Amino acid sequence: WGKEGHIMVCKIAEKYLSEEAAAAVQDLLPELAGGELSTMCPWADTMRFRYHWASPLHYANTPNVCNFNFSRDCHNSRGEQGMCVVGAINNYTDQLYTYGDSPKSSYNLTESLMFLAHFVGDVHQPLHVGYEEDEGGNTIMVHWYRRKANLHHVWDVSIIDTVMKDFYNKSMDTMVDALQTNLTEGWSDDVGHWENCANKKATCANDYAIESINLSCNYAYKDVVQNITLGDDYYFTRYPVVEKRLAQAGVRLALILNRIFDKKKADT
Ligand code: ADE
Ligand code: ZN
Ligand code: ZN
Repeated sequence: WGKEGHIMVCKIAEKYLSEEAAAAVQDLLPELAGGELSTMCPWADTMRFRYHWASPLHYANTPNVCNFNFSRDCHNSRGEQGMCVVGAINNYTDQLYTYGDSPKSSYNLTESLMFLAHFVGDVHQPLHVGYEEDEGGNTIMVHWYRRKANLHHVWDVSIIDTVMKDFYNKSMDTMVDALQTNLTEGWSDDVGHWENCANKKATCANDYAIESINLSCNYAYKDVVQNITLGDDYYFTRYPVVEKRLAQAGVRLALILNRIFDKKKADT
């Protein structure tokens, strides 16, 4: 996602944090976050050029098939296993489990938190689990209405911008409130399933990646060819998917953080 997508995911997550998790997050946030996790959630993208090794951690690609397989697809260009968005979520989750250890954790847990919050957002952007061949839609040139764009950017940014303009007075807070209302009303029957994660310690990021490649095939890539113009037909059938993925990402980020930090309390 772009900046706004990441901020909204984390604003939703903040509303679902337990007391213990909220306190741990406050403790780990840097001063400049102003006490809000959401302000730090786009951070990992600003580091993409400084932390070169972290660039593949934002996504995973498949060999042009509509399924995700961790051992086949989760690696960087040098073939190192686990160097993709799913591996990153599990790795930073493991690091955060050392919060409160004595002697003090040797990880920079402030960075671990900011990476984790960002990558849980990214794994829910369908095209962050896309085809290798087109780099998750980055090499598919399209027009978004009259503007030139690529398909990946349409899903990171353009759909969200258009929805905010059309429905929410260009306000992220209004959009977050609407998603929140949907979570407690329209989607309330689904939220339990979204949170259903039987893995004891690892996260269910692998499942979220499987959902994303399916949505890429059934929505993002569907009926798209080079230089196509995407307008109302595409927009009105795809924006509900974007809204749902932002909300799911928020709920699941809170779930992961609550498990990490509530677990700590249960241990002691
Ligand atoms: N670069 C290469 N593949 C990508 C993807 N699926 N998402 C974002 N950036 C990428
Ligand atoms: Zn992206
Ligand atoms: Zn990213």
